Amino acid sequence: MVYMSLAGWKLKVYREFFERGFETMRRILLIGAGTMGMEHAAHYYSMEDVHVVGIVDVRTEQAQKIIGQHDTKIFSSVEEAVEQLEKIDVVDICVPTFLHKEYVLKAADNGIDIICEKPLAYTLQDAREMIDFCKEKQVRLFVGHVVRFFPQYAQARELVINGTIGDIGIVRTKRGGNFPAGWSDWYADQSKSGGVILDLIIHDFDFLRWIFGDVERVYAKGLAERKLEHLDYALVTVTFKSGVIAHVEGTWAHQTFSSQFEFAGKSGIIEYDSLKEEPVLLSVRQSNERKDGVAVPQSPLKKSPYYSELEHFLHCLKTNETPLVTAEDAYKAMEISAAALQSLQTGVPVVLNGEGGEPV
Ligand SMILES: NC(=O)c1ccc[n+]([C@@H]2O[C@H](COP(=O)([O-])OP(=O)(O)OC[C@H]3O[C@@H](n4cnc5c(N)ncnc54)[C@H](O)[C@@H]3O)[C@@H](O)[C@H]2O)c1
Repeated sequence: MVYMSLAGWKLKVYREFFERGFETMRRILLIGAGTMGMEHAAHYYSMEDVHVVGIVDVRTEQAQKIIGQHDTKIFSSVEEAVEQLEKIDVVDICVPTFLHKEYVLKAADNGIDIICEKPLAYTLQDAREMIDFCKEKQVRLFVGHVVRFFPQYAQARELVINGTIGDIGIVRTKRGGNFPAGWSDWYADQSKSGGVILDLIIHDFDFLRWIFGDVERVYAKGLAERKLEHLDYALVTVTFKSGVIAHVEGTWAHQTFSSQFEFAGKSGIIEYDSLKEEPVLLSVRQSNERKDGVAVPQSPLKKSPYYSELEHFLHCLKTNETPLVTAEDAYKAMEISAAALQSLQTGVPVVLNGEGGEPV
């Protein structure tokens, strides 16, 4: 029989607890220390069991700003980070869109799971290659379509899906504000950002697809072709296979960021405006034409939707669950953007082919 002293037993328990604790620790390598890199880093730093082990950015001084007192190392390349860091569980990609592919392929090649900001890629072909390569390398790929994590948007979806306002006829969404400032003014280069259609209202395309499913036809009008410096705007009409029509408006030609939506159904209206203090507003149509508004209260956000999104992706990694938004969803949202960009160029509507299909 083997006896162990109380001190020895305690030491063993502490050591096991300590080691288990470290097993659950998620080590993140962040790529890109700009606006979104800062946002993601702040949430990771506030999470238990998450360690931002490194940041890769071409601007070391920008990465330094994020780190503060944290023991995060700065690297100039993924290769350097992989070589020097003991372990990386997740590569989180927050570089400009046209660079996503390069980093997704590198992370997947090293067998590391990936969180990538939206839009997944600049072109549909790149996006498909990225998804296929991640599958081949058996790494998970999560895409930051954060609107699904905004309670107001999720609540509107629930109301619509539950039939609260009956069959939907028409939807309007709007999103935007100032022209965004990015590293090296990359947002102003249509061939890097894709303008409001690929960069901004892809959020609404994803949101609407989440509710209404496959899209049949897309028609777009916008400013992109006029090449006005630091002004972009688009109005896209999306017709779903179900017959629902959505007017999706995106702007980088105004002031103060805001987002709005309005669903008009057979028996009521659901509306939301981020500039107003009211939460999602549900108005049930009255047979006697009275127009009372019934507020559907939404408690003030305790958690940022970005925190919820990243926490959800890390949870899915731990449990192997399917995320609320998949890489295929990200691809399908891109298809709608691609169709809208094509329509903008040709001046005619673009019909999507097959199931959620590609522009033809
Ligand atoms: N989910 C959202 O709500 C949301 C909001 C804004 C932006 N985005 C997306 O996030 C991504 C990043 O946008 P942003 O506004 O943070 O951009 P940004 O310009 O603010 O930051 C980009 C960072 O990448 C760095 N960088 C440039 N080239 C690099 C390279 N080759 N290797 C490593 N680092 C490099 C730059 O130095 C900069 O720090 C884009 O895809 C954008 O569409 C998403």
